[in-house]
Amino acid sequence: MCGIVGAVAQREVSAILLEGLRRLEYRGYDSAGMAVISESTELNCLRRVGKVAALGEALDHHPLTGRTGIAHTRWATHGVPAEKNAHPHLSEDIALVHNGIIENHAELRERLTAKGYEFLSDTDTETIVHLIHSYYEQHRDLLNCVKLAISDLEGAYGLAVIHASQPDRLVCARKGSPLVIGVGIGENFIASDQLALRQVTDRFVYLEEGDVAEVTAGHYRIWDENNEPVSRELAIIDAKAESADKGEYRHFMLKEIYEQPSVIRRSLAGRLGSKTVLAEALGARANEILSQVENVQIVACGTSYHAGMVAKYWIEGIAGVPCRVEVASEFRYRKFKVHNNTLLVTISQSGETADTLAALRLAKTLGYSATMTICNVALSSLVRESDLFLMTEAGPEIGVASTKAFTTQLVALLLLTVALGRHHDLKAEQEQEIVAALHKLPQLITETLGLDSAIQQMSNAFAEKHHALFLGRGAQWPVAMEGALKLKEISYIHAESYPAGELKHGPLALIDADMPVIAVAPNDELLEKLKSNLEEVRARGGQLFVFADKNSGFSSANAVEILELPHTEDVIAPIVYTIPLQLLSYHVAILKGTDVDQPRNLAKSVTVE
Ligand code: G6P
Repeated sequence: MCGIVGAVAQREVSAILLEGLRRLEYRGYDSAGMAVISESTELNCLRRVGKVAALGEALDHHPLTGRTGIAHTRWATHGVPAEKNAHPHLSEDIALVHNGIIENHAELRERLTAKGYEFLSDTDTETIVHLIHSYYEQHRDLLNCVKLAISDLEGAYGLAVIHASQPDRLVCARKGSPLVIGVGIGENFIASDQLALRQVTDRFVYLEEGDVAEVTAGHYRIWDENNEPVSRELAIIDAKAESADKGEYRHFMLKEIYEQPSVIRRSLAGRLGSKTVLAEALGARANEILSQVENVQIVACGTSYHAGMVAKYWIEGIAGVPCRVEVASEFRYRKFKVHNNTLLVTISQSGETADTLAALRLAKTLGYSATMTICNVALSSLVRESDLFLMTEAGPEIGVASTKAFTTQLVALLLLTVALGRHHDLKAEQEQEIVAALHKLPQLITETLGLDSAIQQMSNAFAEKHHALFLGRGAQWPVAMEGALKLKEISYIHAESYPAGELKHGPLALIDADMPVIAVAPNDELLEKLKSNLEEVRARGGQLFVFADKNSGFSSANAVEILELPHTEDVIAPIVYTIPLQLLSYHVAILKGTDVDQPRNLAKSVTVE
């Protein structure tokens, strides 16, 4: 989704801005642009449809020189991907980049058109830049004009603005869309994600909702939503903890799949004793809060929602606590009753997903007893606004299709299940079994990754197909859902998932030789039932691919391909069985020649509704 980078320095900034955009590419976008104020105080701007590399080539031919600038990657919302709709948008000497959606843009456009402003794009963003310009005519001060303009805006924004006649500063503001100031020595930066600035600094100041900031090379000043000057904490982020390059791997996604044993180890470190989950694993206040919890409501989107679906089986089946799970975009607009002592849990890789954040903010007004987030990004909005947080230690996830973030979310949710279960149905022996299984998990995943070449072989059967069906039962059903999502996200093959017992209620009608059926079959209590379901597929000429426990008694036969996984305890099976499905979708995507890390039309972090 859209990305912002800005710089005020005592050196040329265009290469810094371009590198920042490159680092934001993983978020998904369809055009890119940059505006820089030259030494002779001219505002120069370049925009290109397509990749940041296309903007880079344009810059080679028309360099933008200067020490203050802003840049943007745009993911189209209002107006198709086109140069005229790409950011920055200009109003004479003012340039602006914007993330988010302005809801009253039509009314503002009308007001500004009546004043004589000519619109060159179809975007909501262009109204903001003309609005600032209209105030500048009277007030001649960029900071105050931005403050005046944002008071007219309805909707969400993270924005950055520069003015050619004030070449030593930029002004930025946030409401509903994240912004961070990167603090340098004699130079300062801003971005929508600190990852964009890791090449220039490790010191960050996160703006809060409603903040406006003025940034120059030597200082930055921040005002809160009441226009009071405020100081915000400076965070130093350890560069070694994060690495955002592909290393020896062909794609980020593959690297991230292979990182799973080590990031799961990291997620467990300091949280798991030899027989118990450590009391401090979920933070100092966790015990007091969890002891009151009688119900759990999980809210999330996409892959994180699937993690929540797995957790429902654990929280109800192991902890004995009623648990509901809902996608955030539905939850936030639905009427329902909140039961007493319900813990609201959000799950999010980015911590900035607009619907999940809105759901959290709504929940705070609805009488939930406490809020908790399971999140991968420190200091993200969800982390800052929740009572409790449990960080997944996946490190930056760059591939749009989530892999290691999902499995570390599952690990965190299992820790939560144990911590909750202690106040309910969980027995000490059960906790010991879960802890023992978690200790084995990284090694089991390493062994499962050893099946990579067999899975690559298997992927040949999918490359020419247009549809696929994923089946699982119990906690493996959400694993099948996640498998289907991975395949559709990166290979563009239509994939659906079903709890296998539902086959005969509709999907059986689809079965023929052109519909590969993938089943996840650990050796659990539903195995025999699953086998019967798979016979129903085989009897109708379907082609079956089964990921099965080596003790599950499946054997390859005509139209049945079995791939044996190491034996796994039931409780962690959803985590282990996710791995082959990730590898399968990766290899199918490679055969189809798609853009694995940045699939078409998708964004890594969806910060608009
Ligand atoms: C986007 C991403 C998905 C992700 C979902 C939720 O759709 O492409 O990979 O699962 O957003 O994101 P979150 O950051 O909240 O987990």
